[in-house]
Amino acid sequence: MTDPTGVLVGLVGDTTDAGIEAFAPGRVNLIGEHTDYTGGLALPMAVQLGTTVRGSRGGHDISLVSDAAEGVVNLNVGALNIGATEPPWGRHVAAMAGTLLRRMSVGGFTGTISTTLPVGAGLSSSAALDVSLALALGFAGTAGELATVAQEAEQAATGVPCGLMDQLASTCGVAGHALRIDFSDNTVTPIPLPNDVEVVVVHSGRSRTLAGSAYADRRQQCAAATTLIGPLADARPADTTAISDPVLRRRARHVTSENERVDAFIDALAGADPAMAGRILVASHRSLADDFEVSVPELDELVERLVAMPGVYGARLTGAGFGGCVVALTAPGVLAAAPGVWPVQSASGAWVRVATA
Ligand code: GLA
Repeated sequence: MTDPTGVLVGLVGDTTDAGIEAFAPGRVNLIGEHTDYTGGLALPMAVQLGTTVRGSRGGHDISLVSDAAEGVVNLNVGALNIGATEPPWGRHVAAMAGTLLRRMSVGGFTGTISTTLPVGAGLSSSAALDVSLALALGFAGTAGELATVAQEAEQAATGVPCGLMDQLASTCGVAGHALRIDFSDNTVTPIPLPNDVEVVVVHSGRSRTLAGSAYADRRQQCAAATTLIGPLADARPADTTAISDPVLRRRARHVTSENERVDAFIDALAGADPAMAGRILVASHRSLADDFEVSVPELDELVERLVAMPGVYGARLTGAGFGGCVVALTAPGVLAAAPGVWPVQSASGAWVRVATA
């Protein structure tokens, strides 16, 4: 087992005034949804789509424009106010500068942000933004530390108490592999992906507007279930029958069964059984819809439509839910690229370099 969280990311040496280019990939989660914040298992992969920050360091002001959103972000590193920062995407910049300032000295930066990720689709565009910003502003440390810094900034910028999955996937990606992450200790194990299957992401057409409060509710419900039966990562689905509250019981049943599905899915892939892997994806979707209640009709209908197609082994909502995307496991070439359909390749994690161009 290799654990890429210990890999060093970031530039060594004095890069003041140098041209900086920092890239962070988005991620698609194959399985293991709403398990990260209870110390469970997930299997995301970094994808080839991502966010790039280009520019130069110097002074004490940060000035950034983005090709994905309106407005110019102008900040003074000595006078950060996350909530008051406009335009709203600039709160990620202010939050990242503030998060880094607690660990190191941070100077100014002038540059541009560009992204190939669809925003708000469940492919972690905001984690990619946070990670690329951290590297552009001068973070240097391990991939695991970078993920933690990005999670802290994400929580400060959005108020959503997100787990660590998106950030670890973005910083630890390994091309050709998905990442089995055990959130009891944040160990990352690359799992080779077979060549005879394709991962395709399909947008449901519904953007994720409710994610904030509903996500926090689910997190709270999982914490409440934990006080009743102990850590959900150590519990089995059968243990959840001891929970008398029907809502908490269903939430815990999802998490405990989802943890089992992660390893069952990995076994199915390793055993060259994509049909079984696909059935496990569909079981995950049903559990997210019925027990965790984070699906919406558009996602359910899309999953049904996809799994009825020849060559589609299985599909499920990916990410927090409440809208966004479905991930499908297919035979190669079954779902062609089209607006809202992205065949995704698993890619390496975030990097930063002195631009040569
Ligand atoms: C969002 C969060 C992650 C994770 C997923 C659900 O993407 O940012 O931490 O909880 O939802 O699996």
